[in-house]
Amino acid sequence: MKKIVTPYKNSCLSKKEQIVKMFDKISKKYDFLNHFLSLGLDIYWRKQLVYHVKKQQPKNILDVATGTCDLAIALIKVKPNQIIGLDISKKMLEIGSEKLIKKSLNHIIKLQLGDSEKLPFRKDEFDAVTVSFGLRNLESLEKGLSEIYRVLKPKGKLYILEFSKPKIFIFSKIYQFYFKYVVPMLGKIFSKDSHAYNYLHESVDKFPYGFKLIKIIQNANYIKIKNYTLSFGVASIYIAEK
Ligand SMILES: C[S@@+](CC[C@H](N)C(=O)[O-])C[C@H]1O[C@@H](n2cnc3c(N)ncnc32)[C@H](O)[C@@H]1O
Repeated sequence: MKKIVTPYKNSCLSKKEQIVKMFDKISKKYDFLNHFLSLGLDIYWRKQLVYHVKKQQPKNILDVATGTCDLAIALIKVKPNQIIGLDISKKMLEIGSEKLIKKSLNHIIKLQLGDSEKLPFRKDEFDAVTVSFGLRNLESLEKGLSEIYRVLKPKGKLYILEFSKPKIFIFSKIYQFYFKYVVPMLGKIFSKDSHAYNYLHESVDKFPYGFKLIKIIQNANYIKIKNYTLSFGVASIYIAEK
């Protein structure tokens, strides 16, 4: 049986409940830590995803697990009519909402509290669905993928940005040390949640990437799957069609 990776080991809450608790708790520090711990690379990775989305020119986009809206905001460059940002953590959305108001983007980007495994939308509704660093946090990856499939229009596209693992030996050793020891230590100091950044390492370590993830996406009925690695494999983009 697959072992479910959760943030709080001795908790009797479900993974989903723990995820909400964790992201609610770290929401105020999330953006700072994201940029700081990734050395700013997260911004570049989202830009790369936007570059691919732009080629499709989707008009109606759903950004699943939108968090504090960094990807939704970056997607403005695609010039869609509407972006819906959905997340299960109210506090993450509150930070996102403040950013949208400051940037006067709240007429194009609408936020919605909800569960990616039970999307509150009709079938065939979106031209594109994006998800950055969100799939790993779902209780059921398969349910999430099949819900996204349901709400995508035929020929609509799913764009995933997620951590993967570098293959070059020396680089992979440095990365492992940084991710396993440095990130949890700095994350604990700044976020005041000793579990969140250990969870980050463990969830990335156990999450499928490359061919394994492509197989799972294929099993969820998607076609024409493409995979691009970023920064020597630290992160990857997957694009799939309904
Ligand atoms: C690592 S953050 C990524 C946020 C944002 N996409 C980014 O690129 O920074 C993961 C987000 O997934 C959300 N999440 C986890 N499980 C979810 C679910 N079942 N439905 C909706 N959002 C979920 C969390 O609340 C959190 O905001």
